[in-house]
Amino acid sequence: MSAKPENIVVAFDAYGTLLSTESVAKKLAEHFGQEKAQTIAATWRKYQLEYTWRLNSMNQYEDFSVLTQRSLKHALAESSVSLDEKEIDSLMEAYDSLSIFPDVAKGLSKLAETPGITAVVFSNGTHSMVSNSVNKSPDLSPHAKVFDQIVVVEEVKKFKPAPEVYEHLARKVGKEKSEMGWMWLVSGNPFDVVGARAMGMQAAWVDRSGNGWQDELAGGERGRPTVIVKGLDEVVDAVQKHAEKYQGSSGQKW
Ligand code: LAC
Repeated sequence: MSAKPENIVVAFDAYGTLLSTESVAKKLAEHFGQEKAQTIAATWRKYQLEYTWRLNSMNQYEDFSVLTQRSLKHALAESSVSLDEKEIDSLMEAYDSLSIFPDVAKGLSKLAETPGITAVVFSNGTHSMVSNSVNKSPDLSPHAKVFDQIVVVEEVKKFKPAPEVYEHLARKVGKEKSEMGWMWLVSGNPFDVVGARAMGMQAAWVDRSGNGWQDELAGGERGRPTVIVKGLDEVVDAVQKHAEKYQGSSGQKW
């Protein structure tokens, strides 16, 4: 695709933003009961992300579906339980049809009615995982047309928040490095927000629990989201309001 310089690109993170990784707890509960399932789902997600950061530090790469499976095994072991390979395969399948958060449908419908914004999905997931979720999940597939493309990190073999992945996003949507300020990341993951801001992007952090911004990794304005929204239904208004404020500028304002 080619984005005109004045076009705003909004890149939606997948896991933890569009898709609830906690929703896989329902499937885990079939094996371990509700309480333990919730613990395992949270630990699974924790190790899934930790593995991506550790591999980035080690200059190594494995695809996200491999890491998702390995981190599941880690989480099961930590809870002193196990599953056979068939059950693990079935959980991995469930990962392709995670539920969306309650505010997602409204937010994406609003986006579909708004000209001048190019929406993409931008994820650590493999193309196969993310396109399965976007195109086949009963929740998300009705909105698949909103997205111009699915941008994944497989080509650069790095995970968020490595600078290369945000540069890769810019290339994929036809933006120059000097136009990073016209690109938005929408993410529920603070580490992703901080990564995008460090590259000069705008970022809307989705604070569904309403706890407020707590990440102190990078200080100052660049270490914080451009805006905080409670759900995706607030994203279009926030992006438009910001654009009106900085109309005619290079977009590099933060
Ligand atoms: C993603 C990770 C951050 O979807 O959850 O990229």
